[in-house]
Amino acid sequence: MTFVHNTVKRIVHGCGSIKEAASEAKALGGTRAIIVTDPGLAKLGVHKVLEETLLAGGLAVSVYDQAELEPSVDSIAHCADAARDFGADIIFGFGGGSALDTTKACAVLLGNEGTIDQYFGMGKVKNPLPPMILVPTTAGTGSEMTSISVLADTKNGGKWGVVSDYMYATAVILDPELTVGLPPSVTAATGIDAFVHAMESFCGKADTPITNALNIHAMKLIARSMRRAYTNGQDLAARADMLYASTIAGMGFSNTQNGIIHAVGTAIPREYHMPHGVAIACLAPMCMAFNYMARPEKYAEVAMILGEKYDSDTLALAERASHRMSALLKDIRIAEGLQPYGVTRSDLPLIAERAAGNARLIGNNPRPANAKLILEMLEASYS
Ligand SMILES: [Fe+2]
Repeated sequence: MTFVHNTVKRIVHGCGSIKEAASEAKALGGTRAIIVTDPGLAKLGVHKVLEETLLAGGLAVSVYDQAELEPSVDSIAHCADAARDFGADIIFGFGGGSALDTTKACAVLLGNEGTIDQYFGMGKVKNPLPPMILVPTTAGTGSEMTSISVLADTKNGGKWGVVSDYMYATAVILDPELTVGLPPSVTAATGIDAFVHAMESFCGKADTPITNALNIHAMKLIARSMRRAYTNGQDLAARADMLYASTIAGMGFSNTQNGIIHAVGTAIPREYHMPHGVAIACLAPMCMAFNYMARPEKYAEVAMILGEKYDSDTLALAERASHRMSALLKDIRIAEGLQPYGVTRSDLPLIAERAAGNARLIGNNPRPANAKLILEMLEASYS
């Protein structure tokens, strides 16, 4: 069997590395840059450091600050229109996963005809994209390293991915200083999302020696720094661990896909407006308990990364992985299960159906899962 490992070409990283943005853009032939970000970040002026660096470097700059939290098909068309109107020859994504996913999907439309829903699925993008530099300001989604854009399908409900090797960023800039202002709740949810990316990739059926190496290190960095970053946002060493871990996990899972946690987390109806990281984190322990017997040696390793001592009883050790995750969630104040977030019991069958239908994610899960099994798991968490 042959495996291929794809990733972005260039990662510029370190405290203050955002100052390299103009030289990076010019090296790619960029003269007119559009910065895609979200209204929240724009209001806080977080993107100013990027805008000013680009202007000082002699580039013309336009800021598109309307990336949606759950990017819709229409919002991608709107963003692409803004980039075309400005005559952008390079596109910057600046922000969390939603801003970066908006940027990647927008870049697809700059290189390809039609609307973005035509490209839902894998490998449907036909032409290369313009140069794209992604700058994450949260440490979680790993979106800067992946070839997928997750979008809300407002017509049919649920979230779907556009996946293409053309969607790897031309360059990524990782500056831990950009993440210092994240509030603890966001640090917590996005940090666990990153851990779950690494874990689902590590425990999944498509793991390789290369993705295993990446994912183990990503989980270790998060395990040692999650609580520190949550309790002291100014701790730059912890912030750097979290940011690099998120990126390294992205390098891993982009080559394997995720698993059941993401299948269920992305199946929650949009009306609940659960942030992605919260949806993933609150489902993690129950899904780990669901999975561990299918690949005990993998979950035993996860348990040890989360603080368990070696135990020659691999199955018993593997079982404790979900307990360790529960303890971590408790420390960083994330409630477990969907019930605390107001998700009604009557919506569970729909969530289970949608999750089971996500072949891309369920196909990589170590334990086969159908709608009945997923519904049973969700029902058991309700009182
Ligand atoms: Fe995620």
